[in-house]
Amino acid sequence: MGAAAVCLLAGYAVTGQKSRMVTEADIHRATPIPDRIILTWAGDPATTAAVTWRTDTTVDTAVAQIAVAEDGPGFVKKSKTVNAVTDKATDHYHSLTFTGLQPDTQYVYRVGDGANWSDWNQFQTAAAGPAPLEFIYVGDAQNDIYSLWSRLIRNGFTEAPKARFILHAGDLANRGVVDYEWGEWHAAAGWINRSIFAVPTPGNHEYPAGEDKTRKLTPYWRRQFTLPGNGVSGLEETNYWFDIQGVRIVSMNSNERQKEQGEWLDKLLTNNPNQWTILTFHHPILSTATGRDNKALREMWQPVFDKHRVDMVLTGHDHTYGRSNVASGTSGMKGGTVYVVSVSGPKMYNLEWAPWMQRAAEDTQLYQVIRVDGKQLRYEARTARGMLYDAFTLTKSKGRPNKLTNPRLPHREHFRSAEEKAALAREAAERKAAEEKKKTAK
Ligand SMILES: [Fe+2]
Repeated sequence: MGAAAVCLLAGYAVTGQKSRMVTEADIHRATPIPDRIILTWAGDPATTAAVTWRTDTTVDTAVAQIAVAEDGPGFVKKSKTVNAVTDKATDHYHSLTFTGLQPDTQYVYRVGDGANWSDWNQFQTAAAGPAPLEFIYVGDAQNDIYSLWSRLIRNGFTEAPKARFILHAGDLANRGVVDYEWGEWHAAAGWINRSIFAVPTPGNHEYPAGEDKTRKLTPYWRRQFTLPGNGVSGLEETNYWFDIQGVRIVSMNSNERQKEQGEWLDKLLTNNPNQWTILTFHHPILSTATGRDNKALREMWQPVFDKHRVDMVLTGHDHTYGRSNVASGTSGMKGGTVYVVSVSGPKMYNLEWAPWMQRAAEDTQLYQVIRVDGKQLRYEARTARGMLYDAFTLTKSKGRPNKLTNPRLPHREHFRSAEEKAALAREAAERKAAEEKKKTAK
């Protein structure tokens, strides 16, 4: 065994033949069997559920079957069949929305073409009104997704298996038009995406520059995610909102038409019966590095957040961790909003300490579990190993900003040394030079 292992490590099998490297494109190639199956919402989470999946181009008939879950397999005979619509791209992407579902009920569904089927997957609809809610939030997955993001997202699931959804704060993949990177993203989360709803917001990496140099939303976004179209016109499925169990969740698309979205948000939150309001978008308005400050966006959006006392703003982009108090830091932070920057993938930047940060981290892959119950919101950030890294509780107080209470946590254990920072900067410069070289070689 030992000898064989050594040979394999060297790239040779015991027969002496060189191991064949399978290309990423081959690993993630579509077949007639449904893959990249993912649950999302395009409507009310209490009564609807959307599912999207991929096949190769030989599949034109796409359907799903759904039934109320039972303790045994009897539901199969009672299942209803629903037709999907197909987006015919290089591969075929099929999607549909199950409607008329019962709130707070477990359902089972499968997708296929009548001959080839997925497994039966189970999900739970949301309760019709306020009820305890648990969800997971992650920052940029982005790089080495299959190799190094998989353990993070699986550990998040293990920590909160009853989470209703996973919120992805942008930069899900590094190159938004590269098929296999999306393949990696789906493979890393695997069947978790078939049972727990995804709530993604687009990052700058979902906006690659085209041949005319303008940045546009990758066509993979709308192909793969069936999301609400209730935001600013033209930004459907990127700027959107939904209410779930007493919480309003809003996805802002921080990549384009920010001013219009600010005005839209002001109107949206003027009529908001929910006790809690949580926003997500990619580019933080309080950054964890001075060179990455988004002053224009902050000036545009923060007055709206303050006016409506948005409870939390969950972002990514800076590849570090930073979390504010309810009312500290830069001027204008009067609404009692907690701002978070987080990262879930392996790409790591340097952090610069700023007065707005209550807790911060470098070189740490994190997932966050948020639990809302009545007047309280409990927040936990955990590392890829599951270690509790940050935590607080928000308590509602009528007409006042939320009260934030922190448990005592050990002092943070890892900031980079000056040498580590210098080495990282060198690596980044080398990577950039290599990319430039590649570009000019083309
Ligand atoms: Fe990023």
